[in-house]
This record gives sequence, structure tokens and C-alpha cells, in this order.
Amino acid sequence: MKKKIQSKLLQWFEKTKRDLPWRKTRDPYAIWVSEIMLQQTQVATVIPYYQKFLKTFPTIRSLARADLSKVLKVWEGLGYYSRARNLHRAAKTILNHFDGKIPHNLKDLLSLPGVGRYTAGAILSIAFNQEVPILDGNVKRVLSRLFAMTGVAKKTENLLWKYSASLIPEGYAGSFNQALMDLGATICTPKNPLCLRCPLNKLCKAYRIRKPEHFPFKNPKKRIPHIEAVAAVILKDGHVLLNQRPVKGFLGGLWEFPNWPVEGKKDLIEYLKLKVKSELGLRVKGKVPLGTFQQTYSHFKLTLHVFYCQYFGSRRTTRWVAINDLDQLAMSRIDRRIAKMVSGER
Ligand code: ADE
Repeated sequence: MKKKIQSKLLQWFEKTKRDLPWRKTRDPYAIWVSEIMLQQTQVATVIPYYQKFLKTFPTIRSLARADLSKVLKVWEGLGYYSRARNLHRAAKTILNHFDGKIPHNLKDLLSLPGVGRYTAGAILSIAFNQEVPILDGNVKRVLSRLFAMTGVAKKTENLLWKYSASLIPEGYAGSFNQALMDLGATICTPKNPLCLRCPLNKLCKAYRIRKPEHFPFKNPKKRIPHIEAVAAVILKDGHVLLNQRPVKGFLGGLWEFPNWPVEGKKDLIEYLKLKVKSELGLRVKGKVPLGTFQQTYSHFKLTLHVFYCQYFGSRRTTRWVAINDLDQLAMSRIDRRIAKMVSGER
């Protein structure tokens, strides 16, 4: 059975493998980049990003030396931005601790940020042809159908890793793992799988009982919260005000139009005005609706009500002042005492 699965799948892959840009290279860096991008994104979306990323950062060194803001800019639109931050951090680690070369053992690869068991398996098998298994959504579906697996999620997962490892043919890890990926993506699809065209159909238990869509057994879907917020596009002399999110955290380092969650507030415009005043110290007029935008993230859904506003003056006037220039600004007595202390005068 195992030998049959191996030979049928490899033959099928040789004939039908998808022509993908990361399959034209053995450069572990390029393969690593592709696997990180493919973690949460479809192949067709990844292709142009992969090409642009490698053109901009052709080597680990160039990525490690780049500013994070530039890396995020090239990643813009691909989503799950922690992937870009991790890739950047990992490139620095590789340069400093691994002699600039992608490690080719499981332990060191798994120590890199953003590299989990699947990604490490994909890199080791595809770039180095090492017999290391992979298991993602596609591969889970293929294997759980092939063996008609039922059972509790965690236990089944461990068993699936074991199956994935035990099936790899000696000397063909890269091709075999990619064949599993392709089969899951093109034939053994979640809905309406093309079983008649599947190279493994005669060996597949789920096909034998004519119930491929019963596998893998699903956990009930979690409901995600819905958050509503208001955002302001504040215009001043052809400029707009943007805020940079803290680097650590959700969408870290990305720029955004200032926004605030609303939580049951009725008058959105009044609320926006209040927030702009209390949090930004700005007065605005106008407040014309620009539109309502929706975005679904992995853990919540966001509805953003966006308003155009015209800058109308500032309540506060804050300014960054060089410590050496503090004596040039008018201050109260108490602030002058503080300023002197900051300047090192007593
Ligand atoms: N999905 C994840 N890794 C992939 C790869 N290397 N080729 C095609 N699809 C994938």
C-alpha cells in the first residue's frame, strides 16, 4: 500500500506539477520566503508578492540589512504582517548566528521566528531533499481521506504527522511533499473533489465508501467578535494625518487613519469629534462620510465608518524641541525649573 501510494503520487506529480516560480530554484532563502508567504495565502495571490520580494531583497543579507518599514511596504496587501516582521528578524538571526545560511536541521530551523513544524518540513524537504514530513490543511485533507480517519482533533493530528512521515519515499522527499500539496490544492479539494482524476483513488478509503467530503472531521466553527469603529481622514493643505501602530502587536508598524472603537455609540460624528479633540488635540470641521469599510481578520471582523474632516486648528500645540533650544521658548517659572534640570543646569 505504502509503495503504491508513493509511486502513483510521484508519477502523477511528474506529469502534472504546477509551474510555480519557487519551483524554479533550489535557493533555500527563496524557498523559505515562498513558504512563509504561502502559510496563510493562496498560491495565485502569493506569486507577484514573491517575485517583488525577491527582487527587492535578493539575499538574506539584503533582507537583514533593510529597514522594517521597507519590508512591510513590500508586504503591503498580503496580510498577516507578523510574517514579514518575523522574516526580517529571522534574517538578522541567520546573518548573526548561522553564518548567513539557512540552517538545514530541524532544531535550528524551528528556533527561527515564524518557522513552525510545517514550514520547517517544507524547507528541509524542498530545498535540501531531507525526509522530513509536512502537514497543513491540504495535506491533512488528503491523508485523512486516504485513511478515512475519524477521531478527536489533537490525537488525529499526531497520527497524521506520523502518516505523513512514514509515507515519504527515500530520496524523493521534496517531490513527494510537493505532490501532496498539489493533490490537496487541485484534486482533493474541500468541496467536490475530483476523485475520478485522482491518482490515489483506488487506494483511498474515503473514496471507497463514496464519502470524501466527510473527511477531515471538523470541529464546530468558533464565532469571531464584530468590532465597529470610526476613522478620521483629516485634511490640511493637501496633507492627511496618519498614525503609526506600535511595532509590537497586531498590524504592528503599519500606518493608519486615526480610529476608535465605538461600542454602542449612537452619534458617530459627535463621537469622532470628541475623540479627535481629546486624543489628538485637534479641532475639525466638515465631517463628511467617506464610506463604510469592512475587513475580516483571523480573530475579529471590523466595520470602519470613515469621515472626511477639515483641520480647523489645534487645541494643543505640541512640538519636539532640542534640549539645547529649550532656553529659546517662553515658559512659566515652574516649567523653566524643569527645563533647566533637563538641560543639566541646576
Ligand atoms: N503551499 C504551501 N507550500 C507550497 C508550495 N511549496 N507549493 C505550492 N503550494 C504550497
